Parts: sequence; structure tokens; C-alpha cells
Amino acid sequence: MKAATLYETGGPEKVIIEEKSIRDLKDNEVLIKVKSAALNRRDLFITYGLYPGMKLPCILGADGAGVVVKVGKDVTGIQEGSEVIIDPGLNWGENNDFAQQEFRILGMPSDGTFAQYVIVPSSNVYRKPDHLSFDEAAALPLAGVTAYRALFTRGQVQKGETVLIPGIGSGVAQYLLQMAVSVGANVYVTSSSEEKINRAVMLGAKGGVNYRDENWAKTLKNQMGSANLIVDGVGGPGFNNLIQLTAPGGRIVSYGATNGPVPNCVMPKIFFKNMDILGTTMGSPRDFENMLTLYEKYELQPMIDRTFSLDETKEALMYMGEGKNFGKIVIRIE
Ligand SMILES: NC(=O)c1ccc[n+]([C@@H]2O[C@H](COP(=O)([O-])OP(=O)(O)OC[C@H]3O[C@@H](n4cnc5c(N)ncnc54)[C@H](OP(=O)(O)O)[C@@H]3O)[C@@H](O)[C@H]2O)c1
Repeated sequence: MKAATLYETGGPEKVIIEEKSIRDLKDNEVLIKVKSAALNRRDLFITYGLYPGMKLPCILGADGAGVVVKVGKDVTGIQEGSEVIIDPGLNWGENNDFAQQEFRILGMPSDGTFAQYVIVPSSNVYRKPDHLSFDEAAALPLAGVTAYRALFTRGQVQKGETVLIPGIGSGVAQYLLQMAVSVGANVYVTSSSEEKINRAVMLGAKGGVNYRDENWAKTLKNQMGSANLIVDGVGGPGFNNLIQLTAPGGRIVSYGATNGPVPNCVMPKIFFKNMDILGTTMGSPRDFENMLTLYEKYELQPMIDRTFSLDETKEALMYMGEGKNFGKIVIRIE
């Protein structure tokens, strides 16, 4: 099969498209012919060696959807020929509250979806929602389940609540927006780009501000009031503004720190407000299943920015590095 493999770090340039053999299937595993895969920032970080637990060589790619070609002899309930979507979270464990230490994400260290075929445990294989194309299904798993768990399982979002999503350019943030709007939350966003704020408003956000403006938090407070729930993947110095923008008794769910650590955290604001700060990582199998149910119920469609071929994986990763995309970057596999 053809696959996008990384043997050494140094950025997207190091990705090699090559012929590889397909390994033997274990009894509990499923062989899937990948129709579409999608990029996450994680894939780009891996090419630079900026990801914990680096182990190469490896076929990249966490997200994918395709058709089942073969099932291991212990696999039940999955038929050859079925159209499926892959949960990229491997070995979550039994407890829905947190992932066990053995938790891993598909596509480093185990071989991922940027290939014509991928092998995953049968427990990670789900029926593809009928209303989604393969491109759309491939765009959903990693960012979608992260957003679902942050918003619902951890954030407990309620209809009519005011929800703030910083940095709407992020892939996870766009799923947060889509899901929060679908359940009737009043969503506000921040971005470095007026165009992205306008796109978010077209997708149902009530408003937004540019975080590059010096007084962005004050402007947002005037526009939005206080937020019942903030779902943040940015961290950094701006996190203190988020604490200020949280309503008494409100909550912040943190899923990332694109902007690094939080300096001089304003502790009294946290305890005087009786607010909650909650952490979250990807999602459990239950979160993944519930996310698919939500997408089917509201017939939600992941946003796709651009599609590349498998031969163009390098270019797709470089395009992600430019940060201009609004929506997922998909690799369509012939
Ligand atoms: N916990 C988990 O399971 C999990 C899963 C996936 C990702 N993550 C983490 O979540 C974060 C987002 O990942 P991603 O792949 O969705 O997106 P990403 O592409 O890494 O997000 C980049 C976006 O962050 C925004 N940003 C940068 N500086 C900002 C600032 N000072 N204030 C507000 N926004 C700012 C920008 O938004 P604009 O373009 O709108 O300016 C930019 O587009 C990353 O840190 C990632 O490691 C965590």
C-alpha cells in the first residue's frame, strides 16, 4: 500500500510517500481501506519532533474514515464492506472520567490513517453516519470528540447559557461552535482575524472580538456580559482575562495551551467567584459514541477547508502550518 511515513523529524519536508506492506491482522483487529483522512495540529508537531513519546518510523494520521476490508477472527458485529469512522483514542480504559496511562492516539507510535489501509482495534470502529461523506466523516474524530467532551461531559453546557470560545481559528474551536449553537447556547468567539469572526457569526455565533486589540476583554464584556462557560484551548496570559469574564459560579474548561503557561494567575477571582476550572483530554469511547449521536440527531456537517491527495501530504501539512485554514484539511485517498 501507499503511505505517508516519517522516518526522521525536521518538519513536513521529511514526510515520505512510499510503498509499504500491510502487516498481519490480530484477532481483535479490523483492516480498513481508508477513503479519507484529516489533519490535526498534532501531525504537524510530530513532524518537528514536538510531541511527547516520539517513536519513529511511523505512518502519520489520527483521523480517518473508510470501508472495512477484513476483520480478525474474534471480531463480532462489524461486517466486511461496512462504511466506518475511526475513533483515534486507543486504550482509553474502563473509567469514563479519565484515560488510563496506556492511552495513545492513532498515528504515532502506531501507524495511522495517511495510507491506503489502516489497522485498528475493533472497539475503535464505528458506523459512519449516513449523512456524512467520507471527507466529512474523516474530518470529525479527534477534534470532534475533544470538543464534545469539553462542552458536554466536562462543561455541562445548557441551552440559553452564554458560552465563550477563544481562538475560533482552531479546529477544536470550530466544532465547539457548531455543537454549542446546535443545543441553543449563546456563543461568542475571539480571533486574530475579522474574517474568522464574521464566518463564526454566519455559523451562529452572537458576536466576537479581535484578541489582538489591547482592550479586547473590555469590549467583549460590553458585548457579551459574563460567560457561564468558557471552553479554552489557548491558555497563556489571556487566561487571566477569561477568569475575569467568567460569571460567578461559572466554569472554564481547558483543553489546550497553544499560548503557553498562565503567568500571575489571579487566584482570588477564582475562589471569590466560586468558579470551576476543569481539564479535559480527547474523549472516552462513550464520548465518541455520544458525539456521533449528536451529529446524527442535528445532521451536523464538519467544515472542510481544503482537500489534498495522499501524494500531497507534505503540502497539506505545510498549509496547516500557515494557519490560514477555517475548517479541516482533508487528505482524500485514491
Ligand atoms: N486536550 C486535547 O485532547 C486536545 C485535542 C486537540 C487539540 N488540543 C490542543 O488544543 C489547542 C488547539 O488545537 P487545534 O488543533 O484545534 O488548533 P490550532 O490550529 O493549534 O489553534 C491555533 C489557533 O489558536 C488561536 N490563538 C492563538 N493565539 C491566541 C490568543 N492569544 N488568543 C486566542 N486565540 C489564540 C488562533 O485562532 P485565530 O486564528 O482565530 O486567531 C489559532 O488559529 C492546541 O493547543 C492543541 O494542542 C488538545
